[in-house]
Amino acid sequence: MTPEDDGKSERADVQSKGASPDDQSITRRNLLRAGLALGMVSVAVGVASVVRSLFSPANPPSPVEAQTTTPTVTKTVTATVTQAGGNQTAIASSSSASTSTATTSTSSSPFPQLMIANVSDLVESQPVSFNYPLEETPNILVKLGVKAAGGVGPDGDIVAYSVICQHLGCVVAYLPTGTGPGCAKSYKAPGPEAYCCCHGSIYDLVNGAAVIGGPAPRPVPQVTLSVDDSGNIFAVGMGPPTIFGHDTGSSNVLGDLQGGTPVSG
Ligand code: FES
Repeated sequence: MTPEDDGKSERADVQSKGASPDDQSITRRNLLRAGLALGMVSVAVGVASVVRSLFSPANPPSPVEAQTTTPTVTKTVTATVTQAGGNQTAIASSSSASTSTATTSTSSSPFPQLMIANVSDLVESQPVSFNYPLEETPNILVKLGVKAAGGVGPDGDIVAYSVICQHLGCVVAYLPTGTGPGCAKSYKAPGPEAYCCCHGSIYDLVNGAAVIGGPAPRPVPQVTLSVDDSGNIFAVGMGPPTIFGHDTGSSNVLGDLQGGTPVSG
């Protein structure tokens, strides 16, 4: 057999096996690609397994992670108050927006919110005057020095009441303990009171302005107060009975907002 014949024999042998050298090269490349693909699949499966283990029931997100965040807005309104000495003080307004975690605060109260003063501003038995919930309805905020029904602040002794007498609508005067009104000098208040010089009605400011003397048929309404973390005192509502002059009935205190101009808040 000649070399030429031998070469023909090899080509014939290769051809008889159905694969040329080029075909063999393509097959090797395909095998390499398949191996690479399998390797990538294995890596992907491993990563997926790790991710599943992190969020499986055995490792649930912590309560903090599961909470949602809710934006809340805090607004401080502007108020002008009359100090006991007659000086008017404008309380600056400010507003701020912040995001807190899962704290949603809603209020359905129709009453405005009004900042009156700060706890640190108050001096015992020196009332601060303010109008609420209408621009025409006067009240006093006072630190009584003794714990009182509905009182706020660190000592629970800060209260606020309408000063419109429930008899015929005169303006009542605040009496610190042991003092008397100009119209009845012999009278000495046994505790913090409101006294009406028109016809002598007396209100006990420690006990929700209960009537303890005179012709008034019911207490003067108490202002609902709220104190924030900074000690700012807010008027946030008005309790029954209805404010004198807005005679819609004590069961319809919301009528206090009718026929007047609510303070801005
Ligand atoms: S108006 Fe106050 S007692 Fe009559």
